[in-house]
Amino acid sequence: MNTPASFNHKKYRRSPVINKPDRRWPSQVIAQAPIWCAVDLRDGNQALIEPMTVAQKQKLWKLLVKVGFKQIEIGFPSASQPDYDFCRWLIEENQIPDDVSIQVLVQAREELIARTFEALQGAKQAIVHVYNSTSPVQRDKVFGLEKTGIVDIARRGAELLRDYAARYPECKFTFEYSPESFSSTEIDFAIEVCNEVIEVWQPTPENKAIFNLPATVECATPNVFADQIETFCDGINRRDSIIVSVHTHNDRGSAVAAGELALMAGADRVEGTLMGNGERTGNMDVVTMGMNLYSQGIDPELDFANADEIVRVVSECTQIEVHPRHPWLGELVYTAFSGSHQDAIRKCLAKQGEEEAWDVAYLPIDPRDIGRDYQSVIRVNSQSGKGGVAYILEQEFGLAMPRWMQIEASRKVQAHAEQAASEVSSKQIWEIVKEAFMTSETGFQLTAYSLDRSNDHEAVHATLKNDKGEYKTIQGQGDGALSAFCHGIEASLGYTIEIVHYDQHAIGSGTDAQAIAYVQVKINGERFCGISRNQDVLSANLNAILICVNQAIGEGLQMSA
Ligand code: KIV
Ligand code: ZN
Repeated sequence: MNTPASFNHKKYRRSPVINKPDRRWPSQVIAQAPIWCAVDLRDGNQALIEPMTVAQKQKLWKLLVKVGFKQIEIGFPSASQPDYDFCRWLIEENQIPDDVSIQVLVQAREELIARTFEALQGAKQAIVHVYNSTSPVQRDKVFGLEKTGIVDIARRGAELLRDYAARYPECKFTFEYSPESFSSTEIDFAIEVCNEVIEVWQPTPENKAIFNLPATVECATPNVFADQIETFCDGINRRDSIIVSVHTHNDRGSAVAAGELALMAGADRVEGTLMGNGERTGNMDVVTMGMNLYSQGIDPELDFANADEIVRVVSECTQIEVHPRHPWLGELVYTAFSGSHQDAIRKCLAKQGEEEAWDVAYLPIDPRDIGRDYQSVIRVNSQSGKGGVAYILEQEFGLAMPRWMQIEASRKVQAHAEQAASEVSSKQIWEIVKEAFMTSETGFQLTAYSLDRSNDHEAVHATLKNDKGEYKTIQGQGDGALSAFCHGIEASLGYTIEIVHYDQHAIGSGTDAQAIAYVQVKINGERFCGISRNQDVLSANLNAILICVNQAIGEGLQMSA
């Protein structure tokens, strides 16, 4: 195969890995939620085609607080007037709950740091987040600086934060430093820069500083990031006085995996966004990581119970649709179209006790936990089988069909789905079943009948009316009422009728209860199915037989009388 010149993998190099045979993180498990920090209003916002308006930021802020974030990065107030104004609105309008800290980002430059502290005036507590780039490509090509120059920027930024914070003693500040492009930086150098910052800030176990380690551009498998985090945690000074935070991006599609392995490797805190909006392919998706924890029985300390509200607000504010297969919250993630999946789900749901640990095939969590119902779990198209049709008819219309009837009903629904080449709604399923098995345009209706039981035999006397309004009387005898009725029809219409299956159950309860009967008969050797609902069980059964007879008439089966 000819490789086009423009698609040439030889342009690229493998990212360096750390040789770390003593790695411990693979045998760790995540046992508790990390400290979360939402960066939707900063990193998420700076990646939007149209940055959020003040109203959109306010709306998203309220959602983040409602979901339960205690640390929220609200913007870059020194770099953008809307971010500055938003910060002032939060403080002046008393919008920040006492247990929530706002976080602001700033570059390590004095005029920007001065303006940032100005924006924070009046806040009770705040995290000031300073960063500078440390990777070789940034040093060499962007800043044209040696390592020492990069260390100087970081030190200077740290000193400025320390000194400006001292001017605002009424606010409890926490400092955060990010060696931007950490994951592409030589690990020894990343540790060296952070140790310089620690030197300035002198954090203590009571007054910790945050060291946030970004995969600014994800460029390796998540295990490489975990090795970097474990090496950092082992090599950094004053480990007990710092919070190790990670901030992964999703360039390779493994931001969540990288974040999770980083927690196993010793990180304490995670920065990310709801549904993963952010630069390029996005930030780490906090919903996914949180729900991953939740589904393992770990309290994520965030509340995703109102999934639809989260999806709606995030997409309204970012103007980005949420993919229907987005992990955990996508519209279709708890929906099964395939017949075998539907069947397994239906059987497991029927056996799942309310108090038991969740154990349902194909459903990793109970969709009700996040405000979804079982209605949307099973949807029907041409890939679906009898289980899905049966589930919908039972859940929405009260029909607990016997297996043989499910097969017949699903054949009709599948034929419709194949012809329409689309999904079949529950309303359409109901219409298909009604038309195929519950009504007859031509033929007879049962207007009256009586039974006479003697010597273990039933005798039926019934009056039928045809579609022209003509009456016909039938009389028959048999072991039971149904066979007597069939014999009566045989004698009168000249068909041979054999009952193959019949079943019935009650539908509804109390005085409103009705009987529903399912019948399959062979008429002149051909199978027909009928379903009928009536106040009375026998009437339902006789009507179901008559529906079969009418189908036979409709198909032109010849009668001899
Ligand atoms: O991705 C990144 O490196 C960042 C930093 C500013 C933390 O967003
Ligand atoms: Zn980022």
